Amino acid sequence: MADNQPTFSRVPHHVAIIMDGNGRWAQQRGRIRLEGHRAGTENIRGVLEACAEFGIQTLTLYSFSTENWSRPSDEVQGLLGILEMMLKREVNDLHKNGVRLWHIGRLEGLAPNLQEQVKAAIALTRNNTRITLNVAFNYGGRTEIVDAVRRIMAAGIPLEQISEETISSHLYTAGQADPDLVIRTAGEMRLSNFLIWQAAYAEFYSTPTYWPDFNRAELIRALEAFDQRVRKFGKTQEQILAGAPAEPVNRKL
Ligand code: IPE
Ligand code: IPE
Ligand code: MG
Repeated sequence: MADNQPTFSRVPHHVAIIMDGNGRWAQQRGRIRLEGHRAGTENIRGVLEACAEFGIQTLTLYSFSTENWSRPSDEVQGLLGILEMMLKREVNDLHKNGVRLWHIGRLEGLAPNLQEQVKAAIALTRNNTRITLNVAFNYGGRTEIVDAVRRIMAAGIPLEQISEETISSHLYTAGQADPDLVIRTAGEMRLSNFLIWQAAYAEFYSTPTYWPDFNRAELIRALEAFDQRVRKFGKTQEQILAGAPAEPVNRKL
């Protein structure tokens, strides 16, 4: 079946997903929001495996934003509990499956035992190479830029040496390629403070499907859409068709 053996002319190196719609998924079924978050969390494994199968090198998942602290406290506590449960239950399997875990966000905003768990999972999986999974938890794009500026200042880098590369290399994603494709589920058309620096030239794909229902077939549809996009990075279509490199210019100043 075509769906089982998709062929893409190119696959994004880095896919980032705004996993939205857990609440609406639950509501639709007359269940509490937290059940939507549980279903959404269970959904990660299959999507991660499909990404690895298609040769995607990095998957970033937006799990909890700096803005999500303003939700009702039982929902916030529930989401923190789910992260803790996931780390305990899944880390060994992730490791066996060659997944390298990374965290992006403010770790120091989490409880000390949760911080330790995250650090241990990162340390355990650090040499894996099949796929990198960035978990964006307590993540905000603006906070990330504030943290980068602080690190740059603390390093005493002279003003005239500060380039786009300097900022990129002080973000939580330092050393990683920028996302090529940002997927948002549940139909919204906004970034909600996600990877606002790194996604400057990403292709954006939105699907009405709620995150707990976003499966391999949905991922294939997103990758097919990506395959059809002409990435121009400011150049003209003619330049691209004539073979000009379709990549962003990394401006030094
Ligand atoms: C996304 O689902 C998960 C988080 C933001 C933690 P939502 O909880 O935002 O689901 P909706 O948007 O209310 O349906
Ligand atoms: C974005 O979803 C954050 C995550 C998916 C973790 P939200 O549901 O919080 O975004 P807004 O508030 O609708 O923009
Ligand atoms: Mg939402």
